Amino acid sequence: MLKGKTVVIGVSGSIAAYKAAEIISLLKKLNAEVKVIMTKSSTRLIGECTLQTLSNNPVYTDMFSEPFRWEIDHISLAKSADVFLIAPASANIIGKIASGIADDMLTTTVMATEAKIFIAPAMNSKMYLNPIVQKNMEFLKSIDYKFIEPGSGILACGDEGIGKLASPQDIVDVVAGYLTSKQTLKGKKVLLTAGPTIESIDPVRYITNHSSGKMGYAMAREAVSRGADVTLVSGPVDIDPPKGCNVIRVKSAVEMNEIVLRESEDSNIIVKSAAVSDYRPKITHDQKIKKSNDDFVLELERNPDILKNLSKIKKSGQVLVGFAAETENLIANAKSKMEEKQLDMIVANDVSLKHSGFKSDKNKAVILIRGGEKKELELMTKQELSRIVFDEIEKL
Ligand code: PMT
Repeated sequence: MLKGKTVVIGVSGSIAAYKAAEIISLLKKLNAEVKVIMTKSSTRLIGECTLQTLSNNPVYTDMFSEPFRWEIDHISLAKSADVFLIAPASANIIGKIASGIADDMLTTTVMATEAKIFIAPAMNSKMYLNPIVQKNMEFLKSIDYKFIEPGSGILACGDEGIGKLASPQDIVDVVAGYLTSKQTLKGKKVLLTAGPTIESIDPVRYITNHSSGKMGYAMAREAVSRGADVTLVSGPVDIDPPKGCNVIRVKSAVEMNEIVLRESEDSNIIVKSAAVSDYRPKITHDQKIKKSNDDFVLELERNPDILKNLSKIKKSGQVLVGFAAETENLIANAKSKMEEKQLDMIVANDVSLKHSGFKSDKNKAVILIRGGEKKELELMTKQELSRIVFDEIEKL
């Protein structure tokens, strides 16, 4: 699958350095050429010999190792890379790269490469959330470095929180996806929404719906694999976001509206698969509402219609896609939403069908396209549906 592709892996001084061994071995199984650079501190955590054996190549640790060759190592390594992966990336290495420091084999090679750079951070959660580290990552993202975000859990130091290296399989999937995909959305910004919104009644009660986020997250995964710069605005869900996208978490429709309008400014494609609550309680009580013997009437007011707001400020060339969750008159209802919200495309799904719609891994949809074209699809996985939807979006 990756025959003829070279992945240069930079291993830095994180306790997760031992996981580099599995990453290398998974990449070798896909027939990639793997070259390894280790920082000095990483050599205290995993042996060079292990990574040398697994990669079947010499491991680079030193700028000035003997014998000197005509071909300067860091330049030739930098040129040979189809992808440069730093995994695990410590706070220190991220800080050095963000500051333009090039004082060892890894940082000089990063500085010299023109390959796509992926960074998989791994560190203590307090370090990860430190504003300096966050600022460094934000800066690197802004100059198109791709981050394979860490997960949460119990960390090596015993603390619990974010900072756990993404799984070696997830890391390899992102890298392999990049190397094999057609990169048809490279240079495009895709803004997606997913999941439900929750509208608070009081500190313990809220209004929401059954959306799990699976559909929107599958769409985000597809956009990442096509090389897009992906921002995913997600309501509260229990699933992990796809690697390689910028996730912004929101709760209410009002919050989602604000973030989506802000992020839409420079977006080329906007896809709204979130199930947004149309109404919110008129009053959100500060304290838990006490029960009484009387009936309780909850007064609701309209939430902003985010898609409608987007259509009012739509820029020329921007593609606006909605989803329609219906329980009856699928096509007629979807068509009228498409017209009302001036969409380029709407993906209509009947959420009353078994094994489809909310929560399911599969979906059965009809795609309606501006100009009148209609595509009726079979029941399929949400990932397959995402591929078809993006194929149609690319035609637009
Ligand atoms: O998350 P899953 O469990 O995987 O389920 C997937 C899904 C069923 C949620 C998804 O496939 C889907 O249909 N999403 C849209 C749900 C929905 O809110 O549909 P709607 O018909 O109410 O809204 C139409 C469109 O307007 C949607 O794109 C919606 O995001 C948008 N909208 C709705 C209300 C509102 N106030 N603002 C909006 O922008």
